Amino acid sequence: MKLSVFSAKPYDKTYFEAAHAEAASSDSIKVTYHDFPLNEETVSFIKDTDAVCAFVNDSLHGAVIDMLAERGVKAILLRCAGFNHVDLDAAARHGIMVANVPSYSPEAVAEFAVALLQTLNRNTHRAYNRAREGNFALNGLLGRTLHGKTVGILGVGKIGLATARIMKGFGCRVIAFDPFPSKAFEEYGEYRDLDTLLAESDVISLHCPLMEKTKHIINDQNIAKMKKGVLLVNTSRGGLIDTKAVIKALKTHHIGGVALDVYEGEGDLFYDDHSGEIIHDDVLMRLMTFHNVIVSGHQAFFTVEALTEIAECSLRNLEEFMKTGSCANALGNTDKGAKKSSLPVRNV
Ligand code: NAI
Repeated sequence: MKLSVFSAKPYDKTYFEAAHAEAASSDSIKVTYHDFPLNEETVSFIKDTDAVCAFVNDSLHGAVIDMLAERGVKAILLRCAGFNHVDLDAAARHGIMVANVPSYSPEAVAEFAVALLQTLNRNTHRAYNRAREGNFALNGLLGRTLHGKTVGILGVGKIGLATARIMKGFGCRVIAFDPFPSKAFEEYGEYRDLDTLLAESDVISLHCPLMEKTKHIINDQNIAKMKKGVLLVNTSRGGLIDTKAVIKALKTHHIGGVALDVYEGEGDLFYDDHSGEIIHDDVLMRLMTFHNVIVSGHQAFFTVEALTEIAECSLRNLEEFMKTGSCANALGNTDKGAKKSSLPVRNV
């Protein structure tokens, strides 16, 4: 079985090679690493490959999947949980299995969401820069005590639930909106409808998948329903937020601060060093001029534990596929909302 790993950074290779050496079928899997992304242009590099392994900003819309099928690819292994960037219908049409890594460390992402919230709320990012300059003034660094505040979570699947658990530990009142409520969340808080959640929350953290239904769920109308001064955290997918609407609300102080690990146009920027270039995304650049906006480059998952599980699970998915023609983490089109997305969005 020949596997081509795309968007392979040095750290991906390190963890993949360790997992490959330990894999039961190590000798029957030959891995090739490409440091560039998978897309219409690079798909032509694929020759004599049975499976591809892709990450969040690789392009897997219908045309790319057609080209993969023409080249004899039989399996797409996603090194991520989200699959909004994959045309599952096209893959099904060609009989290509698509599998994800459904849970590599929900706590890693939840802990990062809370780290962003803490930084945003207490202005740690500004304090760090000031102190290094010998400026120990506190003006402008005032935060709010989170204990007793209401945290609204959109989507209480694995990561949302881990976030709820942490925020309850902070002494916050936790509320959630999820069209597929589960008993597990009731230990940490109460469900609300979306409008009530927007109106009651001091902090809103996004943990739902990107689908047609959730694209720009944070838009002008929903922002208007939020409390003045609300803090917004997004570690899920950039497309959940209409960035221009958020910029408008930051200007009027309706939104009190925004922390983003994901951005709608991240595909052309994230995971690479653009520090010596002119960045042409004026929306992102405007966003980053606000003192109360923090942007990180899709790193919430980035822990030793998560990279280990991502590599091991991707290879387990491939081994299972080699034995049975499918695997337990194969993505279908019939599951609940979180398991279905045919939205052809490239940059998530
Ligand atoms: P999950 O599938 O366990 O949970 C998603 C939850 O969202 C489910 O409970 C589902 O019912 C709910 N949901 C579906 N439609 C909704 C809607 N319209 N409104 C509110 N909730 C809705 O997924 P998990 O593992 O918790 O991941 C959540 C998202 O986090 C993923 O979709 C992925 O995009 C993102 N992610 C980001 C990472 C990062 O490094 N920043 C790393 C891993 C995942």
